[in-house]
Amino acid sequence: MRPQPNRQLTVPDPLTVLGIETSCDETAAGVVRRHGDGRVEVMSSIVLSQVKDHAPFGGVVPEIAARAHVEAIDAVIRAAMTEADLGFGDLDGVAATAGPGLVGGVMVGLSAGKAIALARGLPLIAVNHLEGHALSARLAADVAYPYLLLLISGGHCQLLDVEGVGRCTRLGSTIDDAAGEAFDKIAKALGLGYPGGPALEKLAVGGDASRFPLPRMLLGRAGCDFSFSGLKTAAARLAETVTDETDRRDLAAAVQGAIARQLAERSERAMRIYAEGHGGDRRFVVAGGVAANSEVRRVLEGVAAAHGFSFTAPPLDYCTDNAAMIALAGAERLALGLVDGLDAVARPRWPLDEEAALNRPTHVPGRKGAKA
Ligand code: KG4
Ligand code: ZN
Repeated sequence: MRPQPNRQLTVPDPLTVLGIETSCDETAAGVVRRHGDGRVEVMSSIVLSQVKDHAPFGGVVPEIAARAHVEAIDAVIRAAMTEADLGFGDLDGVAATAGPGLVGGVMVGLSAGKAIALARGLPLIAVNHLEGHALSARLAADVAYPYLLLLISGGHCQLLDVEGVGRCTRLGSTIDDAAGEAFDKIAKALGLGYPGGPALEKLAVGGDASRFPLPRMLLGRAGCDFSFSGLKTAAARLAETVTDETDRRDLAAAVQGAIARQLAERSERAMRIYAEGHGGDRRFVVAGGVAANSEVRRVLEGVAAAHGFSFTAPPLDYCTDNAAMIALAGAERLALGLVDGLDAVARPRWPLDEEAALNRPTHVPGRKGAKA
């Protein structure tokens, strides 16, 4: 249930908010200052990656992640406050990711946020990690609402009409794997390390993307949903047969091209639907870890230009998981008086558009499907 605006809350200008992010394999804390005119200053953003802890297992191990968050969280928060050159007394609120994600990790960051809020008498804002990604482009650029958002990360692949904080309508979602998951799994089949996306992008440099034909999933299908499982199976089968470096490079380029193409095709459909509702006011924002991929950016930028949309993708540091985006989502909620109680719970699953997820689920219970 969404919190109701607390009208008694007086909102200072500017608002300074500490954000905490622990939903996957990054322990992160950051401070953001939001001015009344909408200007945003990132005062600090500390991200401690656990990649080395998980690399031997080829993916994130939830128990290892939770323990590593416990060990790192205090020092990461301290570092964020030091870098911002602020004390807890300078804060107006504390925002922590409350889901979706690995619940053991989410609980660590949310508990740390609650402790600071309680000790300092500050409002707590329980932030949806996806809302953090959805707003991340605003950390570095003045992107006005509304906009069409393509959220492409390791756990999520969605197209959303973002009208404002807490006002997102889902236009499409993956029916199986997320885009980042497809990158990671195919990279694993190619014997590349974890996380696979950046490793696959590196291998693909100079490769011939047209040499290996790969299936074009959902081509021509109505709607804006995504599917990567057929591509993943075909690519994994080909990966078993290629041995020399040129073949591997060409296959990596073909995979990257196929993922970028599907993202573009589904985004094009969403642009048409979005344009019907919003007329000439057309902004396209791409966020999430996969937005760090330069081929994906290049292809999506082309699609946006062809449909009369402006194109914004956050700088690389804000594409992948970070706490500045959580602090910003917290500040924007706080500005509207949307705060949570200390009884806020950690949620492993938490769709951004809860209504659409209930009425139009992209997968039924029991089937393996998208994370939210
Ligand atoms: O947003 P994020 O940091 O975490 C989630 O919330 O999932 O996204 C991580 C995902 C991983 O699947 C990773 O392989 C992918 O983003 N990724 C990339 C690149 N950089 C990160 N995928 C393709 N190319 C990249 N350069
Ligand atoms: Zn994320």
